[in-house]
Amino acid sequence: MTFSSPSMKKDLTVYAVAGDTKTLLAVAKANSVPVHFECENGECGSCAVQIDILSDKAPYGVALTEKEKAVLRYAGKITQAQIDAAENSDVPPPWRLACQFIVRNEDILVKF
Ligand code: FES
Repeated sequence: MTFSSPSMKKDLTVYAVAGDTKTLLAVAKANSVPVHFECENGECGSCAVQIDILSDKAPYGVALTEKEKAVLRYAGKITQAQIDAAENSDVPPPWRLACQFIVRNEDILVKF
């Protein structure tokens, strides 16, 4: 995955370890990527990040936690239609909470 932010001098690409079940926030912290966060529990919304899928493989199944859905909807980041598309058709939503998103071995661009 590649992290990109105006708060970083340049983009940083890191690789998830196969079988890992870390959150995106944990991967960011482990690599000193300054993704903002407060609660680390899917409640404050401060860790919202934009995700672009870079590979042309079919995206992995999308699992949003109930907290993630509620917080992202409340913040106006995703619509109910996007939640439905994620859950029913594995269409990745454009925003995720870094503290709730479990990283997979896929090529994504994380913008924050
Ligand atoms: Fe609060 Fe992720 S840090 S929702």
